[in-house]
Amino acid sequence: MTRLFEPYTIREVEFKNRIAMAPMCMYSSHNCDGQIEDWHKTHYSTRAVGQVGLIIVEATAVQPEGRISAQDLGIWSDDHIVGLTEVVRLMKQHGTKTGIQLAHAGRKATVDGDIFAPSAMAFNDTYKTPVEMTVNDIKATIQAFKDGTIRAQKAGFDVIELHGAHGYLINEFLSPLTNKRTDDYGGSAENRYRILREIIDEVRNVWVGPLFVRISAHDYTEGGMTPEAYVEMAKWMKEQGIDLVDVSSGALVPAKIDAFPGYQVKFSETIKSGAHIATGAVGLITTGIQAEEILKNGRADLILLARELLRDPYWAYSAAKELGTEIPVPKQYDRGWTF
Ligand SMILES: Cc1cc2nc3c(=O)[nH]c(=O)nc-3n(C[C@H](O)[C@H](O)[C@H](O)COP(=O)(O)O)c2cc1C
Repeated sequence: MTRLFEPYTIREVEFKNRIAMAPMCMYSSHNCDGQIEDWHKTHYSTRAVGQVGLIIVEATAVQPEGRISAQDLGIWSDDHIVGLTEVVRLMKQHGTKTGIQLAHAGRKATVDGDIFAPSAMAFNDTYKTPVEMTVNDIKATIQAFKDGTIRAQKAGFDVIELHGAHGYLINEFLSPLTNKRTDDYGGSAENRYRILREIIDEVRNVWVGPLFVRISAHDYTEGGMTPEAYVEMAKWMKEQGIDLVDVSSGALVPAKIDAFPGYQVKFSETIKSGAHIATGAVGLITTGIQAEEILKNGRADLILLARELLRDPYWAYSAAKELGTEIPVPKQYDRGWTF
């Protein structure tokens, strides 16, 4: 048995393999109300038929002003539970485990009205200047992550991922490049981590299942965060009951990224060995052999794929063939494997 197709268990939730679909915004809530549409149902259930072990539903906004675009999925209202429940049901029919990424876009929100961030600094000339959050605003957002978790639980998700990457709200608090606050939520690493600490504590009060945090391990900018700096925060996450750090990078500030196959895997390795926490590797991972190498060399515990699964929803079958392993096929598709 290859490592990629070995089952993997976190807090009694068993993934049938170590292939995860990374969260990917579909910008398909056509009525700008955060609701699940037919597109989401087809898109996610197709990857479930494709034997992905864990599907993490795209960045889903915990507050409407925290949407990247008006077409983002939302979980700020009980009205969202029905649609999400349906998507979970469709995915689970095929034995996949289901996750959802809870998100707030911070200064990278492009919705009408005021947008909010730790400090009143725009991402670049094309983005609005955000309003600096008051402590009351911060408390309301922490509560929104908790409420979103309760709704995700009602919808039947197995895994919650907190979006702390790509220059969105939590990431903006964590990095000194975007957090210029002088109160308890800015300054030292402990203070910049405070909002995430409080979100995790609130979420853990209502959620006993697997809990992931996605981070941008590198800001690629002088004075910004690095994988080594994140080791300290990942230790705090572990103490707080985070099960896995999903290690991405960049997009906090406009900086050039040299993206090559597996370019973020070394960050995953640094955090895994430095903080003794499980990690997910993501970023230009496209072959079974590459995935197997990462797992067998102990560089990550989970392989997340994004664009490759847009091109090939049945990637798991290709990877199994490449690695000389057989995986179950839905009985309707048996004929595809007989010659
Ligand atoms: C269409 C698209 C939408 C994305 N949306 C999200 C998102 O909602 N949340 C997130 O954390 N990353 C998002 N990403 C980033 C991916 O999850 C992933 O980290 C990145 O694409 C690198 O992996 P890949 O080389 O396998 O595509 C998105 C990427 C794509 C291509």
